[in-house]
Amino acid sequence: MSAKRAAAAYRRAFGGEAAVIASAPGRVNLIGEHTDYNGGDVLPMALSLRTTVALGPSPDAMSHAVSEQSPQAGTFSPTSADRAKAWWDYVAGTGIAMRALGVEPRPMNVAVASDVPSGAGLSSSAALEVATAFALAAWSGLPKDDVALARAAHRAEVDFVGVPCGIMDQFASALAHAECALLVACDREETTLVPMRSPVLVFDTRTPRALRTSAFATRRMECEEALRAVQQVEPSVRWLARCSEELVLRSAMSPTTRKRALHVVRETARVAAFADALLRTGTLDGSLWYASHASLRGDYQCSTPELDWFVDRAQETRGVTGARLTGAGWGGCAIATGPEASLRVLADGASAPFAKAFRRQPRHWLSSASEGARVDREPVR
Ligand code: GLA
Repeated sequence: MSAKRAAAAYRRAFGGEAAVIASAPGRVNLIGEHTDYNGGDVLPMALSLRTTVALGPSPDAMSHAVSEQSPQAGTFSPTSADRAKAWWDYVAGTGIAMRALGVEPRPMNVAVASDVPSGAGLSSSAALEVATAFALAAWSGLPKDDVALARAAHRAEVDFVGVPCGIMDQFASALAHAECALLVACDREETTLVPMRSPVLVFDTRTPRALRTSAFATRRMECEEALRAVQQVEPSVRWLARCSEELVLRSAMSPTTRKRALHVVRETARVAAFADALLRTGTLDGSLWYASHASLRGDYQCSTPELDWFVDRAQETRGVTGARLTGAGWGGCAIATGPEASLRVLADGASAPFAKAFRRQPRHWLSSASEGARVDREPVR
C-alpha cells in the first residue's frame, strides 16, 4: 500500500526515516452534486485508494518534496511559498493554511506515494492536502480536531491552489469512516455518518478534463447570480440550496440561470431522500441516481457523451438499479449501484465497447466505503 512506498521514497530521497506518516483517501460522492458551495447537503464515501505523506525536518531553510507519481521534485519556502503550478502546491499550501491552527511552518522534507489516480475526479488533490494536514498536525502535537484539519485543507485548495471548490472533498477525505457514507450539511458544516455496506462500481471514463476548472467557475458564478435574484424576492435567504423550488420559479432570472438553480434545489432534496432511505433500509436508491444524472446532464450541463454512455449502458444492464456521474463532471468518473454480480457484468461488458466508441481505455473499481484520514506513524516524543 502507499504507506510503505512513501516511507521508502522518503528514505531514498532524504536518507533516514520519516518522523511522521499520515494517509488520506480519495472519495466518490454518492449524491449531492454541485450542492456543497450552495450550502446544501452532500453524501460522499471514502475509497480504499489512499495518498500517503511521509514527513520529517529539512536540514536547510527550504522545504523539499518528492513524489512517486512525478519525476519533478519541489523546493519551496515554508513561510512564503509562491504557487508553482506543480503538484507540491497542495503540500506547500496546506503548510501555510495550518498557520491558522497555530502550526508554525517549519522547513520539511516530504515524500508522497498515492493510489488515487489524479485527474479522474476522485479527489486526489484533497487526499494530498488532508494527508499533509494530518501529518503536520501530528508532527506539531496539535490536539485532535479533524474538522479543523479538513477546513485547513480546504483553505489550501481555495486560497493557495486557487480552485474555488466547496468543502465536500476535504471533509470526505478527513472525516469519512469505513462502512459509512458521510452526510455533510455544507451550510452548517455538520456531519452525520450513515451506515452503508453496499458495493459501488466506480467507472473512470478517462476523459481529459481541460474545461473542468473554467466551467466549474462559471457554474459557481451562475449560482451566485441565482442567489442574488432569489434575494430580491426573499432577502433573508442565505443559501441557494436551501430555497424552495417555488421561490426559484418566482424569482426573475435568465432561463439558463434558472436551470442551474433548479438543479441545486432538487438535488438537495434528492440527498435527503437518498440518505433517509439508506438509514431506514440500508439500500442505495438507484432511481435517485438516474434522476440526479438527468439533472446534471440537462440542467447543470456538466456531463459528457462518455458519462452519458455509461449511464445508458447501466440502465440497460439487468440488475443494475442506478448510475450517475460523480464529482464535478466534465469528464472523470461515473458510479453504479445494484447487486455485486450485476455491477461486475456491467463493468466487464462496458470496457470493450466503451474503448471502441471513444478510443480510450476506461478503468473501474468495485469499492466499498472505507476509512478516512489517519496518522500511520506518530512522531517519537
Ligand atoms: C468538485 C469540487 C467539490 C464539489 C463537486 C461537485 O469535486 O471539488 O467541492 O463542488 O465538484 O459536487
